[in-house]
Amino acid sequence: MKNQNIFDNKIFFDSYMNLRDGANFNDLLEQPAMRALLPDISGMDILDIGCGFGANCLEFSYKAHSVTGIDISQRMLETAEKINCGGNIKYMKLSMEDLSCLPSGSYDLVYSSLAFHYAIDFDRLIASCFRILKKGGTLLFSQENPITTASKNTDNRYVKDEEGNVFFKIADYQSEGERHVKWFVDDVIHQHRKVSTIITTLCKNGFIIQECAEPKPAKEAVKILKGLSRDLIKPSFIIFKAKKGE
Ligand SMILES: C[S@@+](CC[C@H](N)C(=O)[O-])C[C@H]1O[C@@H](n2cnc3c(N)ncnc32)[C@H](O)[C@@H]1O
Repeated sequence: MKNQNIFDNKIFFDSYMNLRDGANFNDLLEQPAMRALLPDISGMDILDIGCGFGANCLEFSYKAHSVTGIDISQRMLETAEKINCGGNIKYMKLSMEDLSCLPSGSYDLVYSSLAFHYAIDFDRLIASCFRILKKGGTLLFSQENPITTASKNTDNRYVKDEEGNVFFKIADYQSEGERHVKWFVDDVIHQHRKVSTIITTLCKNGFIIQECAEPKPAKEAVKILKGLSRDLIKPSFIIFKAKKGE
C-alpha cells in the first residue's frame, strides 16, 4: 500500500497553509500540550517526523544540537527550506514508513506533530523510532484521537437533545484501517487505530510510556476560536510521550 501524500495536492496545500495562517487548533490546542510535554532539548539531536513547513524544527534549532526534519511532501519541504531554515537544521524527503536510511541510536528526541495518523504500518514506524533513538531517548508524538478517526461516516456527528446537550456520535471504533474524509478536498486518507493498539504497539516495541494527554482547550483559546468548544465534549488529539530505557 502506498502513502497518499495529500499535502502535495496544490488545492489542499494552499488551503492548509491558509488555515495555519489564522487562529487554528494547532497553535491553540495541540502545540501548548506538546510544549508542556517536551523535555529540555538543550544540546539534543532531534528528528521531526512529518515536519511540514518546519515551524517546530526552527523553534527546536535555537536550543538543540541538530534538528532533522523529514516529510514526504515536496511542497512542504520547499516551504520549510524557504521560511524555517537554520544552520543546524537539515530537511530530508523521506517517508515515515521507511526510516531504514537513518542510523541506529542517533537521536535524543523523536518528535512528531499530527502526522502519525497517516502511517499505514504503525508497528514498523514505532519499531524504527525505537531503533533510531539513543538509549534513554524520548518519543513524543501527537495524532488525531481515535475517537475522532473512528466513524466512517463523518456527516452530522454532533447532535443536540431537547435540553440542548451536545453529543458526539461514534461508530466503527473497533474497525481499524483507512478512513476517507473530506478536508479541503475529497478523499483524504487517515488511518484509524484504537487506543489499545497504539499503547500495545509502543509497549511491544520496548517503549516505556510516560504520559498520555488528550488536550482540552483553555477558556481563552475558545474565546479566540469558537470551534474549539467542541473539544470540551471530545478530544481531537491524543499525545504520547514514551521513553527508550537506558
Ligand atoms: C498535519 S501536517 C503537520 C505538519 C507539522 N508537523 C506541523 O505540526 O506543523 C502532517 C504532515 O505529515 C506529512 N506526512 C504525511 N504522511 C507522511 C509520511 N508517510 N511520511 C512523512 N511525512 C508524512 C505531511 O506531508 C504533512 O507535512
